Amino acid sequence: MTGLERAKRRAPVVTIDGPAGAGKSTAARELARRLGYRLIDTGAIYRAVAWRLREAGVNPEEEQAVRRVLDETTIDLRDGVVLLNGRDVTGEIRSPEIGALTSRVSTLAAVREKFTPIQRRLAAGGGVVLEGRDTGSIVCPDAEVKFYLDASVEVRVIRRQRELEGQGIPADPDSVRSEILRRDRQDMARALAPLVIPAGATVIDSTGRSVEEVVRLMLEEVARHGCSTRS
Ligand code: DC
Repeated sequence: MTGLERAKRRAPVVTIDGPAGAGKSTAARELARRLGYRLIDTGAIYRAVAWRLREAGVNPEEEQAVRRVLDETTIDLRDGVVLLNGRDVTGEIRSPEIGALTSRVSTLAAVREKFTPIQRRLAAGGGVVLEGRDTGSIVCPDAEVKFYLDASVEVRVIRRQRELEGQGIPADPDSVRSEILRRDRQDMARALAPLVIPAGATVIDSTGRSVEEVVRLMLEEVARHGCSTRS
């Protein structure tokens, strides 16, 4: 994006990256609400792709088959609802099974080649909060405000456990912990779009901080960049 295009944006792009369980989704949702910006949950896009591949019975290792399915897949994010070829999959993509498949599916070049440009287009007009693993490093490296939200493994395990229990899924702390560590290794070690602290990002540790405190720190940072809200 050129400087002129950036200057013509109506409002800034804010990115939030970080590991699973750092509190990104909750903070991103609240930040977007307070700023009056659109929220783009990029993880939901990858989860929907995983759901679609499973529905089509396609093995993620079969690249040609994956590409064929992707050619017939559209994903829309609307006010927290995830539509896959017009079907509401918002709830179904949150299962642990889809979560595990997504960490594999999100490493595929065919998947990222298709969805990274779509995410850039969604962000192009500004006034968005993008949340994910590579939004400040790869999708929008020129975003006006970038955050990297982190938390201790202990806190991330507790949060993830509560989230699963809230969905009626029993969660044992040891297996949640190994799942989180496995996910971290996969997200950080992968060749394509690994989880990193993006250049210029403000690192916020949410350990021991409430959602309100995290969002307040983020709003202060947005204000420091001279970004105004839409509302
Ligand atoms: O944030 P989440 O749990 O919904 O993400 C699901 C998976 O998608 C996770 O394994 C990381 C991956 N992901 C990614 O590779 N790139 C993103 N920008 C967002 C999520």
